[in-house]
Amino acid sequence: MSSARSPSADVVLEAEDLALEYRDGRRHVRAVDGVNLALRRGEFVGLVGPSGSGKSSLLFLLAGLRAPDRGVVRLLGRPVPRRADESAQLRRRHVGFLFQEPFLVPYLDVRENALVHTRGEEAEERLLTLARAIGMETMLDERPHRLSGGERQRAGVLRALVGAPDLVLADEPTGNLDSTTGHAVIDVLRESAHRAALLVVTHDEGMLERADRVLRLADGRLEVVD
Ligand SMILES: Nc1ncnc2c1ncn2[C@@H]1O[C@H](COP(=O)(O)OP(=O)(O)OP(=O)(O)O)[C@@H](O)[C@H]1O
Ligand SMILES: [Mg+2]
Repeated sequence: MSSARSPSADVVLEAEDLALEYRDGRRHVRAVDGVNLALRRGEFVGLVGPSGSGKSSLLFLLAGLRAPDRGVVRLLGRPVPRRADESAQLRRRHVGFLFQEPFLVPYLDVRENALVHTRGEEAEERLLTLARAIGMETMLDERPHRLSGGERQRAGVLRALVGAPDLVLADEPTGNLDSTTGHAVIDVLRESAHRAALLVVTHDEGMLERADRVLRLADGRLEVVD
């Protein structure tokens, strides 16, 4: 880590006073409520909180997949456009997103799914290295319906990391995995955090132990745990 640079030079993602409410008929949920946050390159940050506390909603806001009702998200110093279609280019170039469900394209195999937004020799080499690291090298030609839940989740890991993103947002990435495979996934995430900032929703103690700091959401509000 360089101490010569100013701390703000390494900020990959900044969120200021983010808020999101869901309103439908009877229900009115304040899912994210005044969240401030900065993630720096090389940081591995855990995000915890009870079910329904707003973790996935916050990740969607940070990725620009949903527009906040209030507040702003800056990625590499630039405000993320409010419309998901306008923020798509920024997201594809700089953000790796691991959803709670991996949302693979059913008619594409694992390799094609991983490379859907990223092309080139370098990406293909990175894909092979990543696939070997998480035990997916023999699965690259398989379509998602022939994979187990954990294999699909790992295919999502490949897609999220293959573009060497500046920011990785991951929602329970080891949820369907046994502990050996889970640790392999943590290792590749941790490795990607050398050049990226990494925010991971998890209740996996092994993962939290390896995080640089842990944030907790409670009713949409953020508190620092350590
Ligand atoms: N599309 C939606 N429409 C209405 N309410 C929603 C929607 N998505 C989430 N919510 C509500 O917003 C709150 C936060 O949900 P969110 O999915 O962000 O929680 P979470 O912390 O990720 O939970 P979990 O750990 O179960 O994944 C919950 O009360 C949920 O019911
Ligand atoms: Mg969630």
